Amino acid sequence: MSGHTCAGGSGCPQEERVVSKNRTVYLKDYQPPQWLVDDVYLDFALQPSATEVISTIRYRRNPLAEQGDALLLDGHDMELLSIRLDGELLMPERYRVHAGGLEIPAVPERFTLEVTTRIDPQGNTSLDGLYRSGGNYCTQCEAQGFRKITYYPDRPDVMAPFTVRMTADAADNPVLLSNGNPVASGKLDDGRHWAEWQDPFAKPAYLFALVAGNLACVEDHFVTASGRTIALRIYTEAHHIDQCDHAMASLKRAMRWDEERFGLEYDLDLFMLVAVDDFNMGAMENKGLNIFNSQLVFASPEIATDDDYISIEAVIGHEYFHNWTGNRVTCRDWFQLSLKEGLTVFRDQCFTSDLHSAAVKRIEDVRLLRALQFAEDASPMAHPIRPASYMEINNFYTVTVYEKGAEIVRLYQTLLGIDGFRRGMDLYFQRHDGQAVATEDFLAAMADANDADLSQMQRWYDQAGTPRLSVRMEYDSAAHRCTLHVSQSCPSTPEAEVKQPFLIPLALGLLRADGTPLALQLAGEAEGCGSSRTLLVTEAEQSFTFVNVPEAPVPSLLRDFSAPVILDYPYRAEDDAFLMAYDEDPFNRWAAAQRLAMRTMLAMLAGEAADVELIATAFSRLLADPDLDAALKAEALMLPSESEVADACAVADPGHIHEVREQLRVRIATLLQGELESTHAELAAASGLDDLAMQQRKLKNVCLSYLLTLKTGRVIELAYRCFLQAACMTDQYAALAGLASCDCAERKLALSAFEAQWQGEANVMGKWLAVQAGSSLPDTLEQVKQLLAHPAFDLRNPNKVRALIGTFALRNPALFHAIDGSGYRFVADQVLQLDRMNPQVAARMVRALMNWKRLEPVRSGLMRAQLQRLSDAGLSADVGEIVSKSL
Ligand code: ARG
Ligand code: ZN
Repeated sequence: MSGHTCAGGSGCPQEERVVSKNRTVYLKDYQPPQWLVDDVYLDFALQPSATEVISTIRYRRNPLAEQGDALLLDGHDMELLSIRLDGELLMPERYRVHAGGLEIPAVPERFTLEVTTRIDPQGNTSLDGLYRSGGNYCTQCEAQGFRKITYYPDRPDVMAPFTVRMTADAADNPVLLSNGNPVASGKLDDGRHWAEWQDPFAKPAYLFALVAGNLACVEDHFVTASGRTIALRIYTEAHHIDQCDHAMASLKRAMRWDEERFGLEYDLDLFMLVAVDDFNMGAMENKGLNIFNSQLVFASPEIATDDDYISIEAVIGHEYFHNWTGNRVTCRDWFQLSLKEGLTVFRDQCFTSDLHSAAVKRIEDVRLLRALQFAEDASPMAHPIRPASYMEINNFYTVTVYEKGAEIVRLYQTLLGIDGFRRGMDLYFQRHDGQAVATEDFLAAMADANDADLSQMQRWYDQAGTPRLSVRMEYDSAAHRCTLHVSQSCPSTPEAEVKQPFLIPLALGLLRADGTPLALQLAGEAEGCGSSRTLLVTEAEQSFTFVNVPEAPVPSLLRDFSAPVILDYPYRAEDDAFLMAYDEDPFNRWAAAQRLAMRTMLAMLAGEAADVELIATAFSRLLADPDLDAALKAEALMLPSESEVADACAVADPGHIHEVREQLRVRIATLLQGELESTHAELAAASGLDDLAMQQRKLKNVCLSYLLTLKTGRVIELAYRCFLQAACMTDQYAALAGLASCDCAERKLALSAFEAQWQGEANVMGKWLAVQAGSSLPDTLEQVKQLLAHPAFDLRNPNKVRALIGTFALRNPALFHAIDGSGYRFVADQVLQLDRMNPQVAARMVRALMNWKRLEPVRSGLMRAQLQRLSDAGLSADVGEIVSKSL
């Protein structure tokens, strides 16, 4: 089962199915729920430090579950005030309260349970359950926050309609919201008022939400394809109300897109979105009442960068798309998380890609996947997109479940085509609307709708690790045949030593020496068809022969990143430069640039001669290419990150990697200074929020960042001028971030000007903290420590923690890995403090200390010592799981 928690121990019935914190929950132990819920009625008497919750719930035995008449409910961090069963007050001897829940040993077949609890929203610093943010009440219940509100079978396969009533002080909380539709409200004579909401759709408890407080609202509407008018409301504190237009426009685009692409309409008459400052994650798809981290709502050109604009649109889309993929069809248990997250990330990727540049979107997603997910797959926390076990489910909201999960969903579309994928989605909703299902059900819908055998896809759900796809080419000049020998392998990961072969679609093309594509004809086919096609790799080793190949071609492999694998082909540097210039597939032009840069850096690390001229010439040709858009040029010019380089080394020396990467950037900037300056100047005037302007700003700022590596008075002056004259946050931020790594007077001036300008905007001050924590100057850690005491920082606010501590720990490898161990000690100190307040956020930070085994011996020992120090302290289940799996 999905993890009923109680203290276990002697006398606990069904002990084998009862799990306490710090114990592992297994997928193989899943059992259907013993009790089903007919309906839930919640009554909240909201008070900041003592909120009383009366839950009135009708239970009925699940005919499909085993016998036994004990009721086990999840719950903790609450004060239990009373229990009534069918109206009768239960004396304490009739029930038992464990550390993780409540047990009533004998209950009838059907009954109504009324439980009164008292909770402390104000004191809830975990931001999980009911808590306060900025003086308002809000909730976060995924995955297991509802059990901190009332006792409940808190598992996603228990679904019920909810009615929610709340009373609160009317002056402090004019707005009272919950899921679904408002049904009644009124005033009380003690200065309090109340409202009642009803959600007609049965849902799991993790989708419950409540918001109460003093909020302003922007209102708009959307007319669905079938002609229904939906009211749309965005709530926020009044002083941010004029920064919600982009969010509202994004929401409407998302609603339209889901209708057009998937035929999916919104189902309630009201859709609400609330922005809060204190939030553990990005956002949450509560039915009809999405709650967002304010960072992913507020936008105006002055406060949000172009990247912020795009992510706001993407996340608004993501949460909206969950209404079908997550809410209408939900997960049977938390092992199935990728069923909704991988699918919904894939949907939001398609949304962005349809609205903007598809190639740029693909490149950015793959960059993230390679930098973070490949690293996770090679770490002690490696897990399949459907894990077989977990200790703390909050630790599994990972790049693997989300981003690799999305890659696996994309595989279906690659295999079945857009129309085939749509047939599969249609069948999935037809079969499972209103149900809580497993990843196998999604696979089956895709297969059945297309009469396809997709059974091998199952391995992507069960096996962790990044497969390596090795390709060798053999050209027979006499027979004009070209054979690709393909083999796949996958390293062992915690869940399995030996891996079964994956189903890997390999999209490719073959290029002639003059750069033109060849028509592709496999041996046995009557004629050539197309210049790009997808081979299916299903075995550990396979060969594919193309005929009518008049000359030895250069293969363009894994086009559009057709599978989440590491490609291994003996490309020469000249091949990469050639593909950068000629490949029809824009993604592979970028991939070739990355490979060339990676090869150069690895050579430099090994102390070998590196052909920097070749890469500079290739970059210069790209810059001059009239057919390439500015954003693609920018993407190609950005070198693989230091962490990607570290992943490519058997044993990493982060200091050396940083040096080498900077050196390469300096040498490229020196060789291309003229072109970088002229490109920068040509694009200086880019303005507005259209795609073209955004693409131009992106390239302009990549040029600036190269130029700044030269650290001459002239470029520093240029950057400072850009900072002062910036007409939007994109340019202001780019200049500031560049100057932050230069030891010069302009750095100080820019930082204080930025602070003075933006001290009233919490999210913008997050950027100010982040640029300082990301600086490559030697005293960065000292600065970070001082900033902990700055009024813009707050250890209780996750955005600020991520900006300052997170940037230093996870995005500043050179300083974090300082050879004296100071970075490791600092992060461990912060994790210990944070863990007492907010385990989920602490568990994100502690991941920085996970990979000690991959480091050179000195750092390795220092990092391990900090993990040991943490392990010896008392830790939350969240941090404890990561520390214990890393040691
Ligand atoms: N379902 C949310 C999303 O759309 C994430 C919620 C994560 N919550 C957590 N406690 N880890 O991505
Ligand atoms: Zn999601």
